[in-house]
Amino acid sequence: MKVSKICCVGAGFVGGPTMAVIALKCPEIEITVVDINNEKIKAWNGDLNDLPVYEPGLSDIIDKVRGVNLFFSNDVDKAIEESEMIFMAVNTPTKTSGEGKGYAADLTYIERSAKQIAKVSKSDKIIIEKSTLPVRTAEKIKQILDSNKSSNINFEVISNPEFLAEGTAIDDLFKSDRVLIGGDQTESGQRAVSLLFEIYTKWIPKEKIITTNVWSSELSKLVSNAMLAQRISSINSISALCEKTGADIEEVSKVTGMDSRIGKKFLKSSIGFGGSCFKKDILNLVYISRYYGLHEVADYWESVVKINSFQTERIGDEIINILEPQCSKSTVTILGWAFKKDTNDSRESASIYLAYRLLTNNINLHVYDPLVKESLIKKDLTDLFKNNKKDNHEIKILLSKVKVYNNPYDSVLNSNIISVCTEWEEFIHYDWKKIYTIMKAPKWLFDGRNLLNKVYLDSIGFKTFFIGKS
Ligand code: UGA
Repeated sequence: MKVSKICCVGAGFVGGPTMAVIALKCPEIEITVVDINNEKIKAWNGDLNDLPVYEPGLSDIIDKVRGVNLFFSNDVDKAIEESEMIFMAVNTPTKTSGEGKGYAADLTYIERSAKQIAKVSKSDKIIIEKSTLPVRTAEKIKQILDSNKSSNINFEVISNPEFLAEGTAIDDLFKSDRVLIGGDQTESGQRAVSLLFEIYTKWIPKEKIITTNVWSSELSKLVSNAMLAQRISSINSISALCEKTGADIEEVSKVTGMDSRIGKKFLKSSIGFGGSCFKKDILNLVYISRYYGLHEVADYWESVVKINSFQTERIGDEIINILEPQCSKSTVTILGWAFKKDTNDSRESASIYLAYRLLTNNINLHVYDPLVKESLIKKDLTDLFKNNKKDNHEIKILLSKVKVYNNPYDSVLNSNIISVCTEWEEFIHYDWKKIYTIMKAPKWLFDGRNLLNKVYLDSIGFKTFFIGKS
């Protein structure tokens, strides 16, 4: 069998960029990305400057391959039926109800896609798990496929988790550290693995493509994210200690990271990690560990998430302490809503949790982000209010305290405190002298990313708070 047609179910942050790069590197393969969300498909087929996902370099690739061998469509059945290989790149959020609520991954979209694939397929298919999934999900997918299929065809389920990080997705896809493919040890399992292997060899050196059994592949992805997040929580826990003792977190982080066994990456203290992956995947790991009765293991990993919430909360409390008892008459400007720079994604961003803490303490908010739109900012807050059981009336009052701006200088006008939450490069180049003059007392600047020049800001007259510095 030769792969000539690929379908990808899910046109999000993983499906879009990954398929764009495969299309670019494999011009002989026709790829169709499908999604049940018509608006998303319309946007992928629309203006290159307004694609649903922002990633540096992505629009150039889409410009080259769209309509050539990469297509975006909402005709899900047709694309499934025609393809030999189907990537599942749908989202797997944390469950909000039922068994495993708050921890386990919600596999509704995965199950729905599996049923649809089974229903419309008339020939053998290789199904690839691209979404991050709990260990042993492939087994469940295989069961759904086999019990819903109409003819006597074979489904081979393999795991190929994504290691790309948002904001650097295209670069990560071009120069992956490793590509992981997990498959069954059976003959047809190994054949499926080698077909996918062949696709990646078009641009990834063979020695970087690792093949394992399906379960190792699924678990390796969760563990990779948990290990990365654990490093940030470790250094963030130390940042609080630095503020009390006079040690400086940047120095501690530098010294620690110079031990080559530890290394310097993911030791940058911040207001807290965000994104759609770390929290979700760790909670998943916690859930699986508890399921197997490994409560100490579960507690250990859960503490990584707890330190992350603690980091955002304690910074929120510092702000509240300064403004009390004048909170309702005060304004804080949040600079940066995305969970990190160079992305328009705000899922699980620390800004949302900081904003929540400030708003529920009666503080007025101004928000500016170079890429995240007002509608998303309001939606993020509304979702969190609902999760915290606020009723519609309360939500309306809380949202009336939020103003979103398209211009940073407008956003800081008459503000009492600025809080930098995302490490956007442009913040460094602002006219901070001008900003100082248009703010209102006490003119504090909280740098939740240790991005700006403290000495310079102090010299202007700002009162400053930098993470892990006293
Ligand atoms: C993460 C992993 O890095 C990817 O390898 C993985 O494939 C991806 O999840 C996924 O599961 O799909 P991503 O969530 O895009 O990627 O972002 P990261 O660059 O890992 O950053 C996560 C958060 O940690 C951000 O809020 C970032 O600002 C923060 N961070 C990162 C720190 O606070 N300090 C650091 O030193 C590094």
